Amino acid sequence: MSSNLANRAVKLQAESGTQPADLEFARALVSGLTADEKSIPCRFLYDARGSELFEQITELDEYYPTRTETKILEDCAGEIREATPAGSLLVEFGSGSSTKTEILLSALDAIAGYVSIEISKAALDEATERLKSRFPNLVQVPIVGDFSHAVDLPDQFAGAPRLGFFPGSTIGNLRPEQAVGLLGNMKSVLGEKSRLIVGADLKKDSGILLAAYNDDDGVTAQFNLNVLARANRELHADFVIENFEHVATYDEALGRIDMFLVSRVDQTVRLLGHSIAFAAGERVHTEHSHKYTVAGFQKLAGQAGWESSRVWCDEAGLFSVHELAC
Ligand code: AVI
Repeated sequence: MSSNLANRAVKLQAESGTQPADLEFARALVSGLTADEKSIPCRFLYDARGSELFEQITELDEYYPTRTETKILEDCAGEIREATPAGSLLVEFGSGSSTKTEILLSALDAIAGYVSIEISKAALDEATERLKSRFPNLVQVPIVGDFSHAVDLPDQFAGAPRLGFFPGSTIGNLRPEQAVGLLGNMKSVLGEKSRLIVGADLKKDSGILLAAYNDDDGVTAQFNLNVLARANRELHADFVIENFEHVATYDEALGRIDMFLVSRVDQTVRLLGHSIAFAAGERVHTEHSHKYTVAGFQKLAGQAGWESSRVWCDEAGLFSVHELAC
C-alpha cells in the first residue's frame, strides 16, 4: 500500500473504529479500481452482510450446488467411512459454518479429531459450539487462519491418517493455476498418504448456470452490490449503489461464470482520496466461478500431485465430489 493510502486508511480507522483487516480491503479496492480493467477480489464479497446473503443464495431454487452436494455427501458418507481408518484426523479447509461437515462427522464416528481452519473467528466459534453440542465426544481443534497458506497441524495428532475436506466448490472461485497451487498447499498441510474430499461444480447447460447466478429474487445481485455498500460503510467511499447493476455471464470456452458490477451511468466515485471515473457500461469484475468436467478436475488435481481415487456425482450430472489421494 502506498504510504499515502495507508495514512488515509489508518486515519479513517482511528476516526471510525475500522478494523485493521480493512486496510487490506482498502488496498485491494484502490488498486483494483484504478487499474485499466477494474476488478475487486471476490474474497471481499464476504463481510458479515455478504456472508448472510451468501447463505440466502444457498437456499435459492436456482442455486443447485449446495443442495446437490449435500445429497451426494449424504449418499457417499458410508463409502468415505469405509476408507477411513479409526483414529484418522479430519481437517477442513475454510470450514465456515461447518454445515456439511456434520454429514461426515455423523458417519466417521471413530476419528481422532477434527481440525477446522477458518479465517472468520466468529464463524469458527459458532460452528465449534454447535458441533460440541451435537458431537460431545469429538476432539475439536479450531484454527483461525487462511487455508491458502501453510498451516501446522497440532502435534497431538502426529501419525494419524489425514482426511482433508474442502466442500462447496470454492475451488472454482480460483483461476485453474491458483486452484493447482491451493490443492498443492493442502497436500503439504495434510502430508503424504492423505486423502482429500473436494467438491467441484460441473459444466452444464448454460441456462441452468446463468439462472443460478442471476436469481429471480435478486439475492445474488444484492450479494454482489454489497461490496460497494461495504466500501461506503468501512472506507467512507461514496458509491451510489443504484448506479451499478449486477451482471453474470457464462463463458462456454473457459467454462466459467464471471460476475461484474456494471456502471449504469457516467460517474465519479470518491474513495480514500481518489476520484475514480466509471463510464456508462463499464464493468468491474468481482468473481470467477469455474465449472469443470470430471476428467478436467481430475487432471487439475493431478497437476497438484493428487490422484483421483473415487468420484461421486448426482444423477443429473450437476455436481461432483472427488476423493483424491497422495
Ligand atoms: C462460494 N462459491 C462457491 C460460490 C459460487 O457458486 O461460485 C459463490 C457465489 N457467487 C454467487 N453465487 C454464489
